[in-house]
Amino acid sequence: MAKILVTGGCGYIGSHTIVDLAESGYEIISVDNNSRSTTAMLQGAEQITGKKIKNYKVDLCNFDDTHAIFQENSDISGIIHFAAYKAVGESVDAPLLYYENNIASLVNLLKCVQEFNIPHFVFSSSCSVYGNAAEIPVTEQTTLMPPESPYAATKQMGEQIVSDFSKSTGTACILLRYFNPAGAHPSTIIGELPLGKPSNLVPVITQTAIGRIPKMVVFGFDYDTRDGSCIRDFIHVCDLAHAHTLALKYLEQQKNKSNCEVFNLGTGNGVTVLEAIAAFEKVSNVKLNYEKGPRRPGDVVAIFANNDWAKKQLGWETQYGLNEIMKTAWDWELKMKKDEQLIQQQSAGLN
Ligand code: WQD
Repeated sequence: MAKILVTGGCGYIGSHTIVDLAESGYEIISVDNNSRSTTAMLQGAEQITGKKIKNYKVDLCNFDDTHAIFQENSDISGIIHFAAYKAVGESVDAPLLYYENNIASLVNLLKCVQEFNIPHFVFSSSCSVYGNAAEIPVTEQTTLMPPESPYAATKQMGEQIVSDFSKSTGTACILLRYFNPAGAHPSTIIGELPLGKPSNLVPVITQTAIGRIPKMVVFGFDYDTRDGSCIRDFIHVCDLAHAHTLALKYLEQQKNKSNCEVFNLGTGNGVTVLEAIAAFEKVSNVKLNYEKGPRRPGDVVAIFANNDWAKKQLGWETQYGLNEIMKTAWDWELKMKKDEQLIQQQSAGLN
């Protein structure tokens, strides 16, 4: 059974991808320093799959600790690299935090890929590499505009690093450009678990609806779009997860035409922020308490995917739409509240 190393395996997309990989028969190990996660999501993945998944609590910015993982696991056949900071707004406020974490970790990992001859490497990239694209929907050939945030810059640099690395070593690499991941596993055993206040739209919506956030802000409603708010392509996290399994199989079957191929992972549907809020209200039957506020630095106005290439080459088809994204996200938020109440009752019972 092929063994896959998943970095950021305790995170949102990482844990959902581990479920999909395990269900496809892969053996998995995770590396996650839990700086932005807990092991709860990995335990959830174990519960869903019935498989034990070891996590190495290691900071990939520490080369020696990273190297030791490869010395201990000589049978790694592929790597999916999720581990990175990803909040656009935070990256604007703390650029060095993003450049150090996102780039140093990638370089350390690739040094190990080269030393231990790992044949397949999948890199978690982002639609933010397109910047304010001149034409949308974007294809993989769309010219990359200047990055709108340090986060986006680290993803553009990351793609360049992986591309140059693949040319020099012959390692088969794939760059997956995610659009806006959202939603939760239908079992509600795993979902998005932002530590502290979330920055992404969908968890902010569900936390506002459940009362954890008193009122949310729509960042900007004077953009040149159909209703003045930004346009995004929300992709269900399970659809995104499955694309990673298909990408690994694509490399294992040597279907790749070059050593560094790029795929857009979006639904192809552009949705405005206000439309996303309306979809949530319809699905949850909860009126959302929001106000219209100033634009957020670092935001692009509009972006959504042309996903024909991933559909054609990887055989990838999205299974979930916007309503299922909002439904599973809301079910997950309700489940977390129920668990919290259970824990409070239990601790009350213990006193
Ligand atoms: C979406 C829209 C906000 C919060 C994300 C990830 C990034 C990458 C791309 C994967 C924007 C608006 C948000 C709020 C709001 N994904 N918004 N009020 O910035 O598109 O980037 O997807 O790699 O990692 O961060 O996502 O959810 O932060 O914002 O109005 O309280 O929602 O202004 O227009 P973004 P986001």
